Amino acid sequence: MKIVVCGKGGSGKSTVASLLAKNFAKNGFSVLVVDTDESNFGLHRQLGLDLPQDFTGYYGGKQAVMQRIMAAAPDYGSVSFFDEAWGLADLPAGYLSEKDGVKLVAIGKIHEAGEGCACPMGMLAKQFIGNLKVKPGEVVITDTEAGIEHFGRGIEESADAVLMVIDPSYESLKLAEKVAELSRSIDKPVFFVLNKVDGSSEHFMCDALGDRHAIAAVIPTDPSLAVAGLRGDEVEADSADIEHLGRFLRDTLAV
Ligand SMILES: Nc1ncnc2c1ncn2[C@@H]1O[C@H](COP(=O)(O)OP(=O)(O)OP(=O)(O)O)[C@@H](O)[C@H]1O
Ligand SMILES: [Mg+2]
Repeated sequence: MKIVVCGKGGSGKSTVASLLAKNFAKNGFSVLVVDTDESNFGLHRQLGLDLPQDFTGYYGGKQAVMQRIMAAAPDYGSVSFFDEAWGLADLPAGYLSEKDGVKLVAIGKIHEAGEGCACPMGMLAKQFIGNLKVKPGEVVITDTEAGIEHFGRGIEESADAVLMVIDPSYESLKLAEKVAELSRSIDKPVFFVLNKVDGSSEHFMCDALGDRHAIAAVIPTDPSLAVAGLRGDEVEADSADIEHLGRFLRDTLAV
């Protein structure tokens, strides 16, 4: 099963991706988290893992990836980075962190001013996720950058489902409409996680979203998550809400 986690900036994408990864692992799944956010450096901390080396390094670094794409001009999309499908066991050890059934690959981060756009990371991420062969009992969770650029990059094309994290804000609710429309256009189911809610915001958000069946979980504002987010601490997936989310996805996507 491949799930892409998306949402507005700061809505809780990385927190939910981490909690979900840990919950799947707790339930016996082998989990790969793919960090496709080139700007943020906190996901590995939430997972309690070291930051792995950029996966672009496997192909000689970001500039080498860019050169390979440019060399195919004008048919940039024709570049193929993978000759054969990879399973989770085939991932190169030098480019992943691992603990308690959860592996982490980070496609690439921005390290220097003026190093160029993130297009090489986007193209590699799309191919990396699309190329992965996922067996029963395995889950790939992709954490994305804020917004919907990843739809433009085609990151969702090989996903089984899109999981959008929605915080109590007008921007998130508007973005949910767009994410639903984009997901429909590529024939992908979309599910919502209402995050950082209290009683009154939950009602408002449910009414605004309309489709209650698409709401996979409701996660209240949790002071311990807020503290972990401030300190860069590992999160713990022991809440009933996360267990519910994991079960919802396992049942709905039949894995
Ligand atoms: N349910 C929650 N209760 C309290 N705090 C939360 C909750 N979910 C997330 N947070 C906090 O909100 C902040 C943003 O969370 P997170 O980094 O997961 O968001 P994000 O959507 O991945 O952000 P970005 O767009 O920057 O990648 C963090 O400080 C996190 O600890
Ligand atoms: Mg994030």
